[in-house]
Amino acid sequence: MILLSIETSCDETAVAVLKDGHTILSDLLSSQIDLHKRYGGVVPELACRRHIETIGPLLTEALTKAGVPLNQVDAVAVTAGPGLIGALLVGVSFAKSLAYALGKPLLAVHHLAGHINAAFIEHPDIVFPALALVVSGGHTNLYAMPERGHYRLIGKTVDDAAGEAFDKGARMMGLDYPGGPIIDRLAKKGNPEKYPFTRPYRSLEHTNFSFSGLKTALKQCLAKMPQSEKKSEHFQNDIAAGFQEAIVGSLVEKTLQAAEKEKVESIIVCGGVASNSLLRTRMQAEAAKQSMAVHIPSPRYCTDNGAMIAMAGHIAFEQGRFAPLNLNPNPHLKLSE
Ligand code: KG4
Ligand code: ZN
Repeated sequence: MILLSIETSCDETAVAVLKDGHTILSDLLSSQIDLHKRYGGVVPELACRRHIETIGPLLTEALTKAGVPLNQVDAVAVTAGPGLIGALLVGVSFAKSLAYALGKPLLAVHHLAGHINAAFIEHPDIVFPALALVVSGGHTNLYAMPERGHYRLIGKTVDDAAGEAFDKGARMMGLDYPGGPIIDRLAKKGNPEKYPFTRPYRSLEHTNFSFSGLKTALKQCLAKMPQSEKKSEHFQNDIAAGFQEAIVGSLVEKTLQAAEKEKVESIIVCGGVASNSLLRTRMQAEAAKQSMAVHIPSPRYCTDNGAMIAMAGHIAFEQGRFAPLNLNPNPHLKLSE
């Protein structure tokens, strides 16, 4: 069973070829970071134009690398939402025409189901019930998973997503886009206690997150510093460490509270922010104290990629959830049971 997957929901064009639901034959990515960098964020119109230029050649390259001719593809999976509407339209239109021309089933994948299923690439034996923390540029969601392919939303951010907080914080500090990996790097050399930020939303009553207050706290802290000090390496490292500590501390604390409440066997952490080095080590260390297994994909499978869409597409295929050829992308698509 050969499954072809396509991902164009934001600023990466990705194509992967998956065999029998577990062997990745090829997984190619074309990043647009350089295109959007100078604007400090993704410019939707530029993103979709670049997807249009890239998708065809990337498909050819992915099939060649996999050693699979197009006519041997058994199903086509595509991200149908959430994401930028114009960007999603490129992938969905391309996937629909491929499925139609090949006479093979089309599978519509929720982008966050893709992130969650990335965990199964390297950890196929995750024990259920599980809890999935999805931390990306646009989402910070907690899902209870009674079994594979079933998701119940039990908590989310009430304002900014964790990745958004990293990116906006980095921008205030005068750093490049995307800011998350840069803050991660600077924080390694900084002292998180020098500029402590209050950890947001600590109430035990709910499992929601909030990160917009941190932004304001960072802004006030930066405003108090003299201009010369602001650019110093020491200051940048310490402030990055303090800011990162508050975000990661909140993510770990809330996730472990929820895991206890839901009585799960395992925790999955996924999405771009799951490649954060402190989040990875802290979540593992704290969960170990509760004898809870934590599964985090390798960093390359945390940020957007085609393999994760193929993994989620394979589950949809097995469950017989085929999409119609008049499928439309939905920028606000919900992930539910
Ligand atoms: O999942 P993703 O690739 O795209 C979305 O679906 O949004 O996530 C991108 C987000 C960005 O906000 C980026 O800053 C953040 O993931 N990110 C990180 C790290 N690597 C990527 N945040 C913190 N630490 C990192 N190492
Ligand atoms: Zn993503």
